[in-house]
Amino acid sequence: NKNLTLTMIKPDAVKNGYMGNIINDITNAGFTIIALRLTQLTSQDAKKFYSIHKDKPFFKNLVEFMTSGPIVAAVLKKENAVEEFRKLIGATNPKNAEEGTLRKKYAESMERNAIHGSDSDENARIESLFHFAEKEIYLD
Ligand code: CMP
Repeated sequence: NKNLTLTMIKPDAVKNGYMGNIINDITNAGFTIIALRLTQLTSQDAKKFYSIHKDKPFFKNLVEFMTSGPIVAAVLKKENAVEEFRKLIGATNPKNAEEGTLRKKYAESMERNAIHGSDSDENARIESLFHFAEKEIYLD
C-alpha cells in the first residue's frame, strides 16, 4: 500500500516533551493517524526492529537508545506516504536536515534524531505489523 508509513517518536523527543508538537506537525502536514500507541521497546524488540543494522558499529548504541524510554509508534496515511513523510522528517543527521523539517526542529544528533520514518512501502508494512495487530490499524 503506497499510502501508509510507520513512524516512531523516539525516546529523546518524548523525554524532551515534543510528543504533542510532533503529532501536531504530522497532522498539519496532511497525514492521518490510523494507529497510535505509547510504548517502550524491549532490547529484543529493538534488535528485531533494527536487524538490518545488526552488523553496523552503531547497532549497540542504537538498541540502548531506543530502549531508554517510552516511544510513540503510529501508522500514518497520506498519498505517497513513505516519500512524503521522509521529506517532512528531513535528513538522518539533523545537521543536514532542512529548515522546517522535524529533525531540524526536534533532533539532538545523528543518533538521537527524534523520529523514525519507514524507508520503503515494504518496510512500512513490516514495521506497522511489528507494532500493531491488523485490527488496531484503522483502514476504512
Ligand atoms: P533511522 O534511519 O531512523 O534508523 C537507524 C538509526 O541509526 C538512524 O535513524 C540513526 O538514528 C542511527 N544511527 C546512529 N549512527 C548512525 C550512523 N553513523 N549512520 C546512520 N544511522 C545512524
